[in-house]
Formats: sequence, structure tokens, C-alpha cells
Amino acid sequence: MADGALLGTGRPKDEVLALLSERKQSGQNIPWRGPRMFRPSYFAGDDVLQVAQQAFNLFISENWLYSRTSFPALGQIEDEVVTSLATLFHGPATAGGVMTSGGTESLMLAVRIPAHRAEASARGNRRFNIVLPWSAHPALDKAAALMQLEVRRAPAADELVADVAWMTSACDEDTVLLVGSAPPYPYGVMDPLQALSDLAVERNIWLHVDACLGGMILPFAAAAGRPADAFDFRLPGVRSVSVDLHKFGWASKGVSALMLRDKADADHGRTVFTNWPAGLYGTPGVAGTRSGGALASAWAVMRYLGHQGFVERVGQTLAIRDDFMLAIEGVGGRILGQPQGYHFAFHVPGVDSLAVAENLTKDGWYIGSLERPPSIQLMLNVGHAGMAEPFAAALAGIVDDLKAGRRQGSGKRSVYSM
Ligand SMILES: Cc1ncc(COP(=O)(O)O)c(C=O)c1O
Repeated sequence: MADGALLGTGRPKDEVLALLSERKQSGQNIPWRGPRMFRPSYFAGDDVLQVAQQAFNLFISENWLYSRTSFPALGQIEDEVVTSLATLFHGPATAGGVMTSGGTESLMLAVRIPAHRAEASARGNRRFNIVLPWSAHPALDKAAALMQLEVRRAPAADELVADVAWMTSACDEDTVLLVGSAPPYPYGVMDPLQALSDLAVERNIWLHVDACLGGMILPFAAAAGRPADAFDFRLPGVRSVSVDLHKFGWASKGVSALMLRDKADADHGRTVFTNWPAGLYGTPGVAGTRSGGALASAWAVMRYLGHQGFVERVGQTLAIRDDFMLAIEGVGGRILGQPQGYHFAFHVPGVDSLAVAENLTKDGWYIGSLERPPSIQLMLNVGHAGMAEPFAAALAGIVDDLKAGRRQGSGKRSVYSM
């Protein structure tokens, strides 16, 4: 078959599936989970994976778009997930949420809702802005670009957390949104959310907490007696919280939620359109057709593990993270700040971190990296149990080689996604 000629003569099912499986196993694909894969990968054990995948398959062909018309079972599943999250995040009686296809869509709504609220009550032509820490996820800029909002992102700095003084000075009467992350992607160190909440209350500005990574960790870490800052509706300035169930809710890819202090605000993110031959069109978020599988898998993992099951797996994963931090410090590494989730960044004084990262990857340790401060990033899961010492030994060997000039780096930039 010529490359790309997919629509030539059809091929037997077994042949097609064998071909696809061959591609999946090919050398260019990194195994998606453990023991040497430390880039974002969300694994909580084979049992949880099976529950998620089987639940996904049960609803793989039902269209989530029609959950309120053709597939009420999906609608009910959605309501139960939202109610459970509202309770988990200490929402008041008014709390609710919108389920989305992922963190990016949740952040789009987190921008859209306060911007639309402001537009609805504003007079004249105003250009609204959003104020972000330097570490906030770029999906917020994507959202702002689509909505033609101005982004005021804090300048690059060596501090790991949101610069509240800068954010305070960046706000004006056209600021519709402040963001803090729990925790941000780069270093895994929590933003000062209490201070951001105080600012939001004082200036009456919407505060969104991006808990895409931490939303399904922190509540259970707290229950396990681990340090876990308040990030949710306990903070009075917080109006919305995003949480990715397809990350550490261990569901199949394609499901997240934007939780709201007041569910009536969801109307500001809703698209309702009537001037169309097919009649009323309405969607709560950005996506149209999508499989019901991811939603079903989120429901199933929550039902399977229950609160105590999450507390146990979260405790287990944090203990593995601690083993890595200790082992890395044992070979001279320095951890950046005090992470509360499963990921952290570190550097080894005296060597170029990006060169260390490049050489680790060359040796089959698939780690992440950051540009400022130059560092190596690891995201842990239960598949890494027992790997802390072998990792630290590999790290120490590479550091020695770099110091002795036996290895070099090529000066490549750090890449998150392309
Ligand atoms: C803190 C944070 N927010 C938002 C996102 C975007 O999520 P997604 O990739 O599901 O769109 C990510 C992705 O890693 C993230 O780490």
C-alpha cells in the first residue's frame, strides 16, 4: 500500500488490526506508562485501567451530545459526576458544573463565562482582559485569542508561584478573570490561592482555579494527612474550578469538568441557536459530537474506587513521589519548592539541566524538562514503584559524564507539545 492510500481497495479486518498493532509497538512510540516513562501519564493500576476501559467501551458509540435527548442514561451519569465533584470541592447548595472534553475546553469555558457575564452587563465597547501568573496553562491564551480578550500574563521570573503583587497591579476595571493553579503544570508547586482569593473578593473579579492536575489529588491527599492547600470553594473568591478526570481521575481520555460556585453562571457559557432548519441547537460547552465513553469511564472509576479507594491510591502515588525526591536529593539534586501533587521539577547544581534531560531520554528515561529555571520534570504514578534508586543511579552517572566531558547536550529547547 502506498503511504496514505487508505481509501484504495479495502483489506480484511485481521490484517488491518495487525497493521495498527504493529504501528503501536513500533520503536518510535514510547510505552505510555511506567516504569521509565515520566511524562504526563495517568496510571493507577491495571484494575482501574480495566474498569475505565470497559466502561468506555460500554458507551463508546453513544453520542454525548445527545445525552439530554436520546441517551438519558448518559445525562444521569453526568449529573452524578457533577454532584459528586461539587461535594468533593465543598461547593455551596448553588454549586454545579459543566462536563467537557478536557482541560483545554474547561479552561475555554472558564474564560468564556466571566467574559460573557461582563459583556452582558457592560455599556459601550470595552476590551476586557484576563490576568494570569506566568506558569498558567497556555490553553487560557488560546481561549482569550478566540474571544479577542487581552491577556496580561505575568513576566517570566524565577519565583515558582503566582506573583500576587504583579497580578494586583495588572488588574483594572476591564479585568474579568484572575487565574491561579492547583498546581501549575511546570513545577507542581501550588499558587498562593488564599491571597488570590482575597484579591478577587476585594476587587470583585472572578477567580478561576485551574485544578486540572490537582483536583483529584488534593482532596484525597488531605484526607490521607498530607499537606494539601485549600484550592476549592472553601476560598470565598473562587468562582470556578477546572478538574481533569482524564488525568488523575484515571478515566479514559476526553473528560474534564468546569465546576461553578453558582450553576446559574453556566448559562454564560452555553450556546443556544434557533435560526436553523433543524430547530433548537444548544450545547453547554464548546464540543459537539463526542463519545460517551470517557464520561462513563469517569463515573465508573469514581464508583469503583470510592472515596477511600482514592485516598489509598493517592497516598501510594505520593509515597512513590517522595521516594524519588529523596533518591534524587541523595545524588545531589535539588527539588524546586514543595510539590503537593504527583509531579515536581529538580536540577543538579553545576550541570546544564537540559543536557541532563537530553541524555536521560537518550538512555530511555522519558522525562520532561523546563526552561526556567532549567530543570527536569517528573510525573509519577504507581507504575514507578521501586524505580527511585535505579533512576537516581542513572542520573548520577549522566551528571558525572557531563562534568567529565564524556557526554554533551545539543542545546535543544524544552518542548511540551507540538
Ligand atoms: C494545569 C493544566 N491545565 C490545563 C491543562 C490542559 O489540559 P488538556 O491537555 O486536557 O486539554 C493541562 C494539561 O496538562 C494542565 O496541566
